[in-house]
Amino acid sequence: MLDHHHIPQVDLEFVNHDHQETLVITNRLEELLTGSGPEDQIAAIDGAFFELLNHHHTHFEHENREMERYGFPAYELHLAEHQHLLSGMDKELQHWLRTRDLARARDYVLNVFPHWLMNHLVNMDTVSATYIHRVRHDDLDQAQGF
Ligand SMILES: [Fe+2]
Ligand SMILES: [Fe+2]
Repeated sequence: MLDHHHIPQVDLEFVNHDHQETLVITNRLEELLTGSGPEDQIAAIDGAFFELLNHHHTHFEHENREMERYGFPAYELHLAEHQHLLSGMDKELQHWLRTRDLARARDYVLNVFPHWLMNHLVNMDTVSATYIHRVRHDDLDQAQGF
């Protein structure tokens, strides 16, 4: 279970907000996959899995846009991690839809994805957010004549 106390907070509010939503969706999906009788929850698992993927499409588009706008130097690197996650998650979802392999879906949702997420937050999102936050404030200072 992802714990919001352990989600690193970054310097951009929309990013923290989106990550909080990631946590809620992931924990719901985890509960569905590990609760009693997941075989009876197939439609709900499908829904939450799609929601997780769609949420990341939207969230990454927003992060990518901001990085591009403010000229974040490691944009390509950060973008590549987003693309890698999306294609991996899409593959897992397709596999789940095809096979209904609960063990594999659990491994992805409980291990693979949280591991990727924590790593990404610490190594990518934190750095990008700090940079964008600083550049935005420099812009503001210049506009105000400081
Ligand atoms: Fe993020
Ligand atoms: Fe990111």
